[in-house]
Amino acid sequence: MCGIIGYLGPKAVIPILVDGLKKLEYRGYDSAGIAVVDESRIHLKRVKGKICDLEKHLGSDTLDGYCGVGHTRWATHGRPSEENAHPHQDCTGSLVVVHNGIIENYLSLKKKLIKEGHTFRTETDTEVIAHLIEKYYQGSLEKAVQQAARDLEGAFAIAVISLQEPEKIVAAKNGPPAVIGLGGGEYFVSSDLNPLLSHTQEIVFLEDGEMAVIESRGVKFCDFKGKPLEKKVDHITWSPLMVEKRGFKHFMLKEIFEQPQVVRDTLKGRVSLDSGRVFLDEIGISAAALKRINRVVIIACGTSYHAGLVGKYLMESLARIPVDVEYASEYRYRDFILDKDALVMVISQSGETADSLAALRAAKKNKPLTLALCNVVKSSITRESDGVLYTHAGPEIGVAATKTFSAQLAALALFALHLALVKGCLDEKRSLSLIEDLQRIPHRMENILNQAKHIEDLALKFLTFSHFLYLGRGINFPVALEGALKLKEISYIHAEGYPGGEMKHGPIALIDEKMPTMAVVPRDNVYEKMLSNISEIKTRVGYILAVAFEDDKEIQDKVDTVLAIPSTHPLFTPFLTTLPLQLFAYYIAAKRGADVDQPRNLAKSVTVE
Ligand code: G6P
Repeated sequence: MCGIIGYLGPKAVIPILVDGLKKLEYRGYDSAGIAVVDESRIHLKRVKGKICDLEKHLGSDTLDGYCGVGHTRWATHGRPSEENAHPHQDCTGSLVVVHNGIIENYLSLKKKLIKEGHTFRTETDTEVIAHLIEKYYQGSLEKAVQQAARDLEGAFAIAVISLQEPEKIVAAKNGPPAVIGLGGGEYFVSSDLNPLLSHTQEIVFLEDGEMAVIESRGVKFCDFKGKPLEKKVDHITWSPLMVEKRGFKHFMLKEIFEQPQVVRDTLKGRVSLDSGRVFLDEIGISAAALKRINRVVIIACGTSYHAGLVGKYLMESLARIPVDVEYASEYRYRDFILDKDALVMVISQSGETADSLAALRAAKKNKPLTLALCNVVKSSITRESDGVLYTHAGPEIGVAATKTFSAQLAALALFALHLALVKGCLDEKRSLSLIEDLQRIPHRMENILNQAKHIEDLALKFLTFSHFLYLGRGINFPVALEGALKLKEISYIHAEGYPGGEMKHGPIALIDEKMPTMAVVPRDNVYEKMLSNISEIKTRVGYILAVAFEDDKEIQDKVDTVLAIPSTHPLFTPFLTTLPLQLFAYYIAAKRGADVDQPRNLAKSVTVE
C-alpha cells in the first residue's frame, strides 16, 4: 500500500531509487515518482503507471544529486495520475515529500493552509504535509517536520528532502512501517526491508512517533518533540537472493515452488522426532499461561484469514479448545465479547495490515493474551503482541500470497500440537506420529510440484471460462476459499468458494456447462459427503475437477478430471490440496496474459483501512 524509499550516499542516486522502487512495487503500482536534490534545484519525475514507465520516462537522464526520495503508489485520495503521483511539493517546489498512509484531517488542514495563502496542485491528502512543513520551516528541516507531524491525524510514514538543506533526508513514522538502512557511509529509508537487502543488513526499525534525520555524517533519531533517542541496530538475516526471480517467469511461480522449503524451515528446530515434543518457548508465552486459556480468537485478513480457518480445525481437533476466526475489518468495529482467559492470535504475513493491527489494539483493551503469527521480523503486529510465532518463508513478492500461506499452516500445526501437549489433550506417542506425518509433508509437496506441467496443460482448457465454483468440506473448506481467492485475484475470473454441504441451499442454481467446479476431496471423514455433493453437480451437467488422493480409484469415474496428490493424515491435507489450486490459478492467469505478480487494484501490504 504505497512504498517509500530514500537514499543518501556516494553512489548515483537514481539507479538506487529505481531499483528500490522495483522491490517495493508490490505494495502499490498505479503511479510512481522520484525526486533528487542538488545544490541548485529539486529534480522531479512522476508518471502514471508502473516503475517500468517511470524508467522509460527517465530515459538516459543522468540527473544526480546529494540524495533523493521515491514512491510507488496505491491510490487512496485522488485518482492515479501524474499530478497525484508522489513526491508532492510545497508552493515553491523547493521541498518534497513521499508518503505512505492516509492523513485523516487533511481537508481541514488544507482549508486552513489555503486561507494562509498556500496553493495546492493535487487532489491528494499528502500535499498538506509539504505545505505544513513549508509553513513551519525556519531554518531547520527536522524541526519543521516535527511540528508538521504533530498537526497530522492519521497514518504516515514520510521521507522529506529540501533544497534549503540539500544533504539531508528527514523521515517520520506514525502507523505504516519505516526502516532505516545503515550502509558504510550510505543511508536508506524504506517502507520495508526488500530494497535494502542488496546494500546492507544493518537496520533500524522506527517506532510510531519517531523520526530519523539522515545526513552524510550519520543518522540521528528523535521523537516528534525533538527528544533524542538511542535506537538499537538489528542485523537482518534475509539475503538479497531471496528477492530475485531466479529463472522463474513470475515471483508467484517461484514462491509456489519454494513451499516445501518454507515448511521445512518453519518446522526446523521446533519438533523432536525422538520424543514427540514441540519446542515453542521462543514465542514468549509460557506453557503455564497457555494452559490457562479457555478460548482462542484468530483475527486476520485475506489469505491469512483462510489459514486461520484451517488453524481452527487443527486446534479444535488436537487441543479441544473453542476457536473463533474473525475478519479483522469486522472484528474491530464489533461489540465483541472477550476476556483475559482468551488467547487472541493475529495472523498476518506482513505484520502491518491496518485492519489486523487495529483489531489487535481493540482486543487488547479487554486484556487477553495476544500472539502474533507473522513472517516479517519486528513488524508492527509483532511489536504489539505479548508473543510472536514467526513463519520462516522469507520475503514474499507476488501480491497473491502462496508460500506464506503454507508457512502459516506449518506454524498453526505446530502451535496446535504445542497447545494440545500443554493442555494434556495429546500424549507424546500420538504427537510423535503426527510430527512424523508433518515432517513428510515437504517431500509430498515436491511430488505435487513435479506434476506442474500436467496442471499447466489442463489450465489451457479453462482460459475462457468466466465463473468457477470451489467446494470443500471440513478442514478443506478453507482451502476451497483460498483456491477461489487465488483464481479471482490473479486471473479476474469470478470464483466462489463454498462448503460442499451448502451447495443445495443456493449455489446449485448456478450450475450449468459454463460453470466448472473444483472439488477438494481427500479421503477424510467427509469424503462420502463430498461424493454426494459431486454427484448432485454431475446430474446437472457441470464439469468437475477434483483434487483427490492418488490412490483413490473411486473418484476417477465420478469426476471429469483428477488432480492427484499423495495421501497424508487428514489434518494435514490442506498443505497438499492447496498446491494444485495455486498452480491452476497461476497457469490460467499467466496464459490469459494477466499481470500475475501485480494484479490490478490489489496491493500486498494493506496499511490503510
Ligand atoms: C492483501 C494481500 C493478501 C493478504 C492480505 C492480508 O490483501 O493482497 O495476499 O492475504 O492482504 O495480508 P497480511 O500481510 O495481513 O497477511
